Amino acid sequence: MALPTRKIGSDDVPIPGLGAMGMSGWYAGWGDTERNIATLKAAWELGCRFWDTADIYGDKRMWENEELIGQALKECNIPRKDIFLATKFGNWQNEDGSRVINGKPEYVKAACERSLKALGTDYIDLYYQHRVDKNTPIEETMGALKELQEAGKIRYVGISECSADTLRRANKVVKIAAVQIEYSLWETGPETNGLFDACKELGIAFVAYSPLGRGLISGSVKSRADLTPADNRWKHPRFSEENFPKNVELVEELAKLAKQKGVTPAQLAIAWVHAQWDGILAIPGTTRVERLKENLGSLKVTITPAEMAEIRKILDSFPRAGTRYPEAMMKDVNV
Ligand SMILES: NC(=O)c1ccc[n+]([C@@H]2O[C@H](COP(=O)([O-])OP(=O)(O)OC[C@H]3O[C@@H](n4cnc5c(N)ncnc54)[C@H](OP(=O)(O)O)[C@@H]3O)[C@@H](O)[C@H]2O)c1
Repeated sequence: MALPTRKIGSDDVPIPGLGAMGMSGWYAGWGDTERNIATLKAAWELGCRFWDTADIYGDKRMWENEELIGQALKECNIPRKDIFLATKFGNWQNEDGSRVINGKPEYVKAACERSLKALGTDYIDLYYQHRVDKNTPIEETMGALKELQEAGKIRYVGISECSADTLRRANKVVKIAAVQIEYSLWETGPETNGLFDACKELGIAFVAYSPLGRGLISGSVKSRADLTPADNRWKHPRFSEENFPKNVELVEELAKLAKQKGVTPAQLAIAWVHAQWDGILAIPGTTRVERLKENLGSLKVTITPAEMAEIRKILDSFPRAGTRYPEAMMKDVNV
């Protein structure tokens, strides 16, 4: 089945993509290899072939999620060229959970080699700097990525969680094909912090991560009791005891609108992201075939201008409560 596509560089990339992070950690329900592989296989079969991973995705272990992707490609006999494979480097996690942001050129090259090994491939389609290293000039990190591109190890260069200013500097060293930032009905920061403008001006694709608000907008987390002790969302201020009830008010309003339209909240959320402009690609995450299919159903949803205005009114009436990340991690975003 051929899905509609949007441009990343000169490639036509199918939308929506598939975020694989939750398969190997972070949220409830991770770690079921059989189910994860079945979901990846179904994604390939259904034409959902823009897959997103990172070297840090894993439960206190680096490369776990990349290895899962490599395993799925091999076990399911998925031709490598069928998948537009994106991964990320530079956000190292120690076993105790502490992190080191590293954009040093020698590290970038070593990280790429390690990810190629984990993925079981000899090239990466889109290689993002996951977090910007404040101690290494962006020009140096981008210089290393340019060399990797020239060596054929990576096809396109991306940056995740950069500021518009950093993006412009980076794009002078090497052509940036995509930025990846949180963007959803729950997080609209890039509309006003200059990132949408910079992407449009420079012809850079905008990859919207957590388009389902980490499961809140899609309704899979209805109460804090839905979060198991191992679920990382406990740490997110938007899921805190104080903020969660306020955020649920927004979700309930959006769910009413979805119901009126005869679509699911997840479908409305993904369709809304894609409706913003044709340079956006959403990468909803799921570990379940049924939800993957539901999310692909977002492609059939059209949102009228009147509905767009209504949604905007809802977003303005129910401002999001809490920051996107815990304080210790907020310092590493929009850098
Ligand atoms: N660059 C970065 O710093 C960064 C940060 C975060 C995420 N990401 C990327 O973005 C991807 C997506 O973001 P995300 O996983 O954080 O959040 P998300 O896509 O907003 O939400 C994922 C959550 O929604 C649930 N879900 C999925 N489809 C659903 C549906 N139809 N109905 C109800 N619930 C549904 C999933 O549960 P089930 O698995 O149980 O379906 C999961 O708990 C990640 O996988 C990762 O690749 C990047």
